[in-house]
Amino acid sequence: MFVSNPKAGRRPYPQALQEVMSIARAEESRQWLAGWARLNAGATPLYTLPDLAAELGVAQVSVKDESVRSELGSFKALGAPIALVRLIRRTFPAQQFDPRGLLEGQYADLLAQFTVVSATDGNHGKGLAAAAQSIGCRCVIVLHANVSIEREQAIAAYGAQIVRIAGNYDESVEHAAELATSNGWTVVSDTSYEGYEVIPRDVMQGYGTIAAEIIEATAGQPPFTHVFLQGGVGGLAAGIVSYLWEHYGAQRPLLVMVEPEQADCLYQSALLGKPARATGSVDSVMAGLACGETSPLAWRFLEPSVDYFMTISDDQAVAAMRRLAAGSARDIPLVAGESGVAGLAGLARLVTDAGAAADLGIDGNARILFISTEGATAPGVYADLLGESASSVLARQQAWRVEV
Ligand SMILES: Cc1ncc(COP(=O)(O)O)c(C=O)c1O
Repeated sequence: MFVSNPKAGRRPYPQALQEVMSIARAEESRQWLAGWARLNAGATPLYTLPDLAAELGVAQVSVKDESVRSELGSFKALGAPIALVRLIRRTFPAQQFDPRGLLEGQYADLLAQFTVVSATDGNHGKGLAAAAQSIGCRCVIVLHANVSIEREQAIAAYGAQIVRIAGNYDESVEHAAELATSNGWTVVSDTSYEGYEVIPRDVMQGYGTIAAEIIEATAGQPPFTHVFLQGGVGGLAAGIVSYLWEHYGAQRPLLVMVEPEQADCLYQSALLGKPARATGSVDSVMAGLACGETSPLAWRFLEPSVDYFMTISDDQAVAAMRRLAAGSARDIPLVAGESGVAGLAGLARLVTDAGAAADLGIDGNARILFISTEGATAPGVYADLLGESASSVLARQQAWRVEV
């Protein structure tokens, strides 16, 4: 399903939005994060895939590979740590904690009883647990009944206390809020709700690092014409879009939002003109995008900027995973997880619809960017879906590098 958004305009980045998220704040976050030992040094790679571009009939396809951002395997390593650092600095202003010192664990003794809690079924939880462990504070993660043991173990490996509930995701959110109230803990969530915007704002602002690196890597080259972004609650997209919009102004690329059919809360928001709930089961193989409700704060950035909203099926995502893993003579094989490939799957779906492709100007001149936001964060799921393990794909990637 596709819908164009009449509210998306071509104008400079509005002052009202800049007061919430700005390049300046994103750069500050980036400097602080650069000192975090759990992130790999330097920018993540931006690959061009010429054979894929030829297959899809466009001039260029580029992919930013966030699977190698850190040992955590996803872009979410940029969000929770920065939100936690900012939260601690706000909570203890008199201490004047140095942000990098916090991430190095220099104040662990003072923060041993400070506790953060979040309901999350995946990458945000891992990022929060890892950040809390580095800083030396406590982290409690509430998991709903359907979160796999594989994902639970990945979070627990970073020292988080796991609370498993029998209910669904919404109930885990409520449970986390109750635990916070009764114990004096703080909820660190990547989605906003009424009266709760500062922490999700800080999470989203952390993602700006990705946009900064893209702009640096492409300086002097013709800019991208289209950026395909995947959406869960909309936080990733808002973090990236705000940065690109402030940088390029009215010349920004055309923006396309892609979601699973079953978890279409942003698509529904575009139809209704306000933050909305998903209409489907919210159960998708794209676990990171399986979100039932739009983040209202993210929506403030997406409604005036995203030109086009669309959904994809789980099968289309799996086909995109396979294509990236396969590589080709000129395309590097890539480990891209279920939620990581949604942008590419959206593009592949669009080019099969001549009318939609024409509406969006996806043709032989289009230079397209998407972000592979995760690697095999659930290695068992990845291997089952592809019939090949992530380590085998990485071995082929190594061999490809040697050959070219
Ligand atoms: C790998 C991956 N990609 C994309 C997203 C979407 O991010 P958001 O929910 O901020 O829109 C998520 C969310 O967890 C994710 O884990």
